[in-house]
Amino acid sequence: MLTGRSPSAHVDRVRPDVAVVGAGPIGLAVAWRCAARGLRVTVHDPAPGSGASSVAAGMLSPVAEAYFGERELTGLLVESAARWPGFAAELAEATGATLGYRTEGTLMVGLTGDDLAEARRLWAYQQSLGLPVTPLRPSELRTHEPALAPRVRGGALAPTDHQVDPRLLVPALRTAAERAGAVLVPGVVRRLADLDAAVTVVAAGCGAAALTGLPVRPVKGQVVRLRAPDGGPPGFRHVIRGYADGEHVYLVPRDTGEVVVGATVEERGDTTVSAGAVLRLLRAAVELMPELAEYDLVETVAGRRPGTPDNAPILGALPGRPDVLAATGHHRHGIVLTPVTADLIADLVTGGVPDPLLAPFRPDRFTARADSADASAAGVADAANQRTEEESWS
Ligand code: GLY
Repeated sequence: MLTGRSPSAHVDRVRPDVAVVGAGPIGLAVAWRCAARGLRVTVHDPAPGSGASSVAAGMLSPVAEAYFGERELTGLLVESAARWPGFAAELAEATGATLGYRTEGTLMVGLTGDDLAEARRLWAYQQSLGLPVTPLRPSELRTHEPALAPRVRGGALAPTDHQVDPRLLVPALRTAAERAGAVLVPGVVRRLADLDAAVTVVAAGCGAAALTGLPVRPVKGQVVRLRAPDGGPPGFRHVIRGYADGEHVYLVPRDTGEVVVGATVEERGDTTVSAGAVLRLLRAAVELMPELAEYDLVETVAGRRPGTPDNAPILGALPGRPDVLAATGHHRHGIVLTPVTADLIADLVTGGVPDPLLAPFRPDRFTARADSADASAAGVADAANQRTEEESWS
């Protein structure tokens, strides 16, 4: 168990209490929470905030992303989303930063009859878990978002699925962590043995595979960013998650006029952008929201989600290494899972006992699984291209 000094303790050639590997949202939030408890904290990353969080859309979607077969993950998503209002308020107060945190809710829509049938099956599952999903009549759907295409057959509202802008969140977390006393150390960490700290937290996204042997593999996502013409806001307010002729697409409107259109899910580790992926994303986007064809195309980009064999994060001490804690593998949910990860990892650092919420996400859950060796090998092989930033994604 580590106990804090004063909240303003400095790291000055003194052995840190906590070394965090990775300055993405997860690593920075863990550092902030630990430093605020008076621990001496270093955060190691060659390029803070330049990884997958700079690609991510920032959806806080425990409901729309409650998928079949992922009940335990859904529980953690719901828990973390419930912490988001307080987390955002605390972060805004600590830094004075604007986070692009918006609470209009998410509209889930289906373009064709087939799309709607697929969507309804998922909505029924989400409702069966007690999650707030309200099916809407077509007229109600258009009252919520008049800019939706007339062809859109139906939809449902997930009012508690919100959004934040990761490109504002990460600098704010860095400011908060540094103001609390954490020290950013530029540079790649190649071996955990090179860090001299009482506890090491590995929040290195896909890079965790090479550092720890954990089965984390890159899952590529391509994203397009548009901007509303004439400097105005987008012509819609809700996050839209749609099924469009079999393509899954989301549209995330920002106050700045930006619209994030995402995302592919590809079992590969490169970050090249392909014309075909951009074509499919834009076609699906415009089918749902025709006015997007008039928007400026400002960016195409790809990132690497840190995937795991069961799509859930890896949180807790490595087997036989109580001094090395994993906070990685957040796959499609890094932004929404930031508050709960930071709180529970900081609790583990200071209390030494894992919160029961962490039980399904322990690092040792893969050791008996036949597929873990394959996934680990894939992750390690990919490590040549690793970033150390936590490649969280949402
Ligand atoms: N959670 C959104 C994505 O992974 O694309």
